[in-house]
Amino acid sequence: MGKDVIVACDFSSKDEVMSFLDKFQGRKPFVKIGMELFYAEGPSIVKEIKARGHKIFLDLKLCDIPNTVKKSMKVLSELDVDMTNLHAFGTKAMMEAAIEGLTRPDGTRPLLIAVTQLTSTSEERMKNDLLINEPLDKVVMHYAKNASECGLDGVVCSPLEAGKVKEVCGKEFLTVTPGVRFADGDVGDQVRITTPEKAKEIGSDYIVVGRPVTQADDPVAAYERCIKEFVD
Ligand code: C5P
Repeated sequence: MGKDVIVACDFSSKDEVMSFLDKFQGRKPFVKIGMELFYAEGPSIVKEIKARGHKIFLDLKLCDIPNTVKKSMKVLSELDVDMTNLHAFGTKAMMEAAIEGLTRPDGTRPLLIAVTQLTSTSEERMKNDLLINEPLDKVVMHYAKNASECGLDGVVCSPLEAGKVKEVCGKEFLTVTPGVRFADGDVGDQVRITTPEKAKEIGSDYIVVGRPVTQADDPVAAYERCIKEFVD
């Protein structure tokens, strides 16, 4: 599996995302569609972006009872996305049901990735709000191991955790890492960040980059810079 840069298209309408994607006349970026765009435009936005030749990571972070997740994943499998995800917090029974639902009759399925702990969840919030008293790092590795045992393909994690996840789950287990910023760029609200170059060194398989590309004066140049630093 080759390394790639996934562009987080955090827009709230079809017009905005399409005029952004129109700028890319050469290499077509791997696109992340999140809840904001999906809830605004529905499944047709996935099909339209796919029809333009982009690979798609559908980031809906499912978490519900196993039966509901299984049936929802079946619907998503028909959208022909390349990658989708769920919360590892939903337990191993839910992750196993998700794989079943996502697998098409011919045995193929999109990559399935688990969110361990959101990067917005601090150890303090985990203790106080969720009554989880283990260190954050231990919880992330435990959830990653659960995901791996259920047959999932990888996890979303901080680029700073990617190396450790590979040690625990094996080097084939994918790490999809947001929180990427250029060395000379704006940090915004992200906390645990690194550069595309450093993410490559640590062993991320996919970096997810949003604002450093979407808000750049020249988004295509910013995207090409990510490719140059992370892939080439
Ligand atoms: O704009 P920025 O590069 O910060 O965008 C990062 C993207 O990755 C956003 O779509 C955000 O929702 C997503 N993400 C994240 N941290 C996580 C999971 C997803 O930043 N733990």
